[in-house]
Formats: sequence, C-alpha cells, structure tokens
Amino acid sequence: MKLRFSILCITLLISLTSFGQGDNYKQNYNKFDGLALTPPMGWNSWNKFACNVDEKLIREIADAMVSSGMKDAGYRYINIDDCWHGDRDSLGFIHPDPTRFPSGMKALADYIHSKGLKLGLYSDAGSQTCGGRPGSRGYEFQDAMTYAGWGVDYLKYDWCNTEGLKAEGAYKTITAALRKAGRPMVLSICEWGTDKPWVWGPAVGHLWRSTGDIYNCFDCVEDHGTWKSFGVMQILDKQEGLRQYAGPGHWNDPDMLEIGNGKLTPGEDRAHFAMWAMLAAPLIAGNDLRTMDKEIKDILTHQAIIAINQDSLGIQGFCYAKEDGFETWFKPLSDGKWAVSFLNRSAEAKPLNFNWQREKVRDEIFNRELNTAQQWYRIKNAWTGKSLGSTKNVLKAEVPPHDVLTLILEKSGK
Ligand code: GAL
Repeated sequence: MKLRFSILCITLLISLTSFGQGDNYKQNYNKFDGLALTPPMGWNSWNKFACNVDEKLIREIADAMVSSGMKDAGYRYINIDDCWHGDRDSLGFIHPDPTRFPSGMKALADYIHSKGLKLGLYSDAGSQTCGGRPGSRGYEFQDAMTYAGWGVDYLKYDWCNTEGLKAEGAYKTITAALRKAGRPMVLSICEWGTDKPWVWGPAVGHLWRSTGDIYNCFDCVEDHGTWKSFGVMQILDKQEGLRQYAGPGHWNDPDMLEIGNGKLTPGEDRAHFAMWAMLAAPLIAGNDLRTMDKEIKDILTHQAIIAINQDSLGIQGFCYAKEDGFETWFKPLSDGKWAVSFLNRSAEAKPLNFNWQREKVRDEIFNRELNTAQQWYRIKNAWTGKSLGSTKNVLKAEVPPHDVLTLILEKSGK
C-alpha cells in the first residue's frame, strides 16, 4: 500500500514538473499589443552623436525635451542608440559602459521616467552591434530580462553581424524574450528593409526600418564603399509600395529625422518634416535638443503637422501625381479630413494651379475618396493656419524650391 502510494506520488510529481517545463518552453512570438497606436515620437542619439553617448548627455536631452516644449508636442521616447554598452560579466549579464554611465541604466531610466518620458535602448540580433559592442545573439532572454529590470520602454534591434540568421526568426526570438521578461516594450525592427520586414514585421514588432540609413542631405546618396546611405528624397522614394503594410501599432520606419543637424535649409527641414508626417512615419528627432534654435523647434513642434502624423486612422499617405520634380501627396485623416502636400524637389520655384473639380483622388487600398464634385472642403494652410478658400476654386500658389506646401481639407457642405 505504502509502495503504491509512493509510486503514485512520484508519477504525479514527474507529470507536474514536465507540465511546468512545457509551459516554460512555450514562447509567444507576438509583440506587445496596444503600443504605438500612433507613430512613436521621440529622440535618438545616433544621427547627431553617433557613439558619443553618456549619462550626462542623456539627462540633459531629457531636460531639454521638457523645457523646449517637445514633450508637450507629443515626443516621449529618449532612445540611446549604439555604444552605451560595456562588457558582459562572467554570468553573461550586459552592463552599461561604466565610464560613460557610472550611475547605471536603472538610475537613468528612473530619471527619465520622473520627467514623464520613456527610455529606449539599442541592441543587435548579431554577435556584435554595428559599433562593435556586444550584440544579443545567444543572450536574447537574458538581455530582455535585464532591460525589463532597468525599466526600458523601447528597444531598437539592429542587424549587423548576423551571419547565418534569418531575420524573421531572429526578431521573433527577441519578441519572445521581451514577452517573457514581461515589461511592455516597443520593438523597433532595424534590418534596413532587406528581408521585407513589412510582410512579417506587423505581428512581431511595432515599426520596421524600410531602408538603409538616412544621410544628412536633401537629395543625394552617400557611398561608404561597402554600403550606402540616403538623402531625405531618396528615402522618400523607397517608401513606394509599402503603405498597405502600415497602420496603428505597426509602422514603416523611413529612419530618424535629420532636422536641425545643420545641413538642410529651412525649406528642406520643413519638407522633411511634412513628408514624414504624410508617411505616418515615426517622428524620432535626431538633433541636439539642448541647443536647437527657434526655427528648428518651431518645425519639430508644429502642432498641425504633428496632428497629420498622429491622426488616429493611421493611414500612410500616397503620392498622387509627380511631374518634373513636383509631387502631390494625399493622406486620408479621421472625420473625413485630408492632408495634402505639394512637394517641390526641384531647384526652381513652381507655380501651382490645382483645380479640385477636375481631380479624382481615390485611395484604392484604404477605400477612401476625396469627392470634390459632390462635396466641398474648406482649405487651410497647415503651416501658417491661414485659410486658402475652398475646393470650389482653383488653388493658385507658388512653392519655393526644396520646400513644401501642406494643406488640411475639411468637409464643409454640399
Ligand atoms: C545602423 C542603424 C543606425 C544606427 C547604427 C548604429 O545599422 O541603421 O540607425 O543604429 O547602426 O551603429
């Protein structure tokens, strides 16, 4: 009797532990839901500071995010890109560089959170980051636990040194690790659009880079020998055919902003910002927020342009017409509104004569129509807030070279 009871107990124990293991090994490869329902807004260190990051800079940027009005305009994430890393310890745990981040990441996260902001970090699916720091390959679950313990809210996950890995699987692994760690984090897939992340990315992450790196110029390609980076216009062109993949919680990411980094003219800065708004792109500022002048601040915090970007429908805009360096873009907005941008990529001013009655603007993918024949719309210049009449009249204007005219159309009556 005693023996039978013991055998029963042992069998029960074995089946219980194996059930336990079964659960433990079960992974959830889907991103955290309910995050990034509009394109994420924030700041990232890479475009301006590259590897020169430390806790003093990050604290000062967080301060400036608040004092400049960027936080009030909607920016939330303070993202530290490559090179924050120190070494792994003998147990494999990653630590921040002790010279650059002597107070540790938890203290920095606490500081950022105390300002009502959120912290983003950067890692890489391969053995090393692009900057040669320790990557997460083989340490995904341990790193995710560490980040969660620090209070990280956003992870940008890069794709250098990933020999032999398949992108979808590698990003699913880090998603599963984040899910296991339990702290909701936005996952920014940074695999440069190589393996069509727009196809598998929506289930796995909240945004995915659709191209290689942005370069700080309006219209150029920079050849680095083994790789190229792309000007604002080149990145814009590479978004063609991707809009059906974007929507609330899952965005095409045409890379971070170069506004305020000293190479673009004010018109080009405006065009860059307006087009990223039209694309429903993440708005991740890449400049020094501590020293930006009023002109830059006014662009980055422009309420009406940000409202186009953050519209709750989350529909990415499309190019309706292009001719001779002049492009017309439309973006459907909630409440039947539309955003329109006339982008002048050329070196000469372009006259605009837009006869609304003659144009047929249809968004086939999201099934929306700007029906100016049956419905008229009031027109506002989104940049200045001034009224430009209605769609009953031909719109006449001039768009300066390398600049943009952005409008908001609002239904007015029959
Ligand atoms: C690139 C990435 C950049 C930046 C850089 C850091 O791969 O596209 O945005 O993160 O790595 O080394």
